Amino acid sequence: MPERVGAAFDLAVSEAWRFAGQTAPNPAVGCVLLDAQGNVLVIAAHHKAGELHAERLAVEQARALGVVERIHTAVVTLEPCNHTGRTPPCTQALLSTPVQVVWIGCADPNPHVPGGGAAHLQANGLAVRWLAQAPNGGAQMARCRALLAPFASRMVHGRPWITVKQAVNAQGSMVPPAGHKTFTTPQSLHFAHALRRVTDGIVTGMGTVQADLPSFTVRHVPDHANRRRVLVVCGTQRNVPAHWLAQVAQHFDVLFCPDCANLPALLATTPALWVMVEAGPTVLRALREQGLWDDWLCIGQDAQGRDHFSVSTRHDISPLSLFAEWAQCTQEQACFPVL
Ligand SMILES: NC(=O)c1ccc[n+]([C@@H]2O[C@H](COP(=O)([O-])OP(=O)(O)OC[C@H]3O[C@@H](n4cnc5c(N)ncnc54)[C@H](OP(=O)(O)O)[C@@H]3O)[C@@H](O)[C@H]2O)c1
Repeated sequence: MPERVGAAFDLAVSEAWRFAGQTAPNPAVGCVLLDAQGNVLVIAAHHKAGELHAERLAVEQARALGVVERIHTAVVTLEPCNHTGRTPPCTQALLSTPVQVVWIGCADPNPHVPGGGAAHLQANGLAVRWLAQAPNGGAQMARCRALLAPFASRMVHGRPWITVKQAVNAQGSMVPPAGHKTFTTPQSLHFAHALRRVTDGIVTGMGTVQADLPSFTVRHVPDHANRRRVLVVCGTQRNVPAHWLAQVAQHFDVLFCPDCANLPALLATTPALWVMVEAGPTVLRALREQGLWDDWLCIGQDAQGRDHFSVSTRHDISPLSLFAEWAQCTQEQACFPVL
């Protein structure tokens, strides 16, 4: 793979990542257009369901900039769609340009739509190159797969990607000191809220609601505009304070889940691609026992009060790897310190 194509994949993933947490039920996708020398003409991404797909937005931006005739190579993190959904096929948008080569990160994992985007481009005379077949494309392939992982989970397993976030203090307790809702440092809080931003919903437990009356909103980083998410409260009783329910209902569609075993089916009724669990030890134990998690982030502190992040993953990739904090995360086989 030419070096400039690798760099274009990095740009495409970064651009798409900016909109993660806003595209559901569509995947986050990025597209970069290059000229024949490998210079970047346009960087685009899918912003939101109902809005233009990454490739079409990129082509429209190229037209607006007057550079459409210079398009030689398109680099896309996901195979371009070949069907008409809310928007026309992306293959059509690419074929309306002089593009000659299309580099694709991941194949479309959606078994419900007729795929064939790559085949259609090839049948129309374009050279289609798969990142997976490039001997030097491993790092970019991992990033494309990490970006797509929440959508792929939904398509393949019928449920969103589930990230458990567990904060543990230096003594190994999950319970904050009396009068506090958290014991994490500003850096951890930033990470936790950035996670809320990229996810489409939160799963909590009745015990957490009763103890903390959490708002679950994104506060320490800027959120996507007008973002409504899903909030699932696990518990058999629905005795949550009415004022709390009224407050969270301003930002969330609230669902109750009397049995965690039904969580995948319940989440499947929502558009969520990626949910984060912010619950106490009782619900975490149930999720762990039932294998209802994909990655498990433990935010801990050492005796000096410094942050320590560790992650257990059940897969060979994790969307958490797209966070800058990933570099500080210790990889664990299993890190369930208090369960
Ligand atoms: N450090 C952290 O990361 C963190 C995060 C969140 C909360 N917390 C702390 O955790 C403490 C609360 O802990 P907790 O264990 O009581 O709360 P929890 O795990 O959030 O909620 C417990 C409740 O969940 C329901 N539940 C349990 N198993 C279930 C299952 N299999 N299916 C459906 N619902 C199920 C039950 O509700 P019903 O009784 O209604 O059936 C149970 O009482 C608080 O102090 C809070 O601050 C810490």
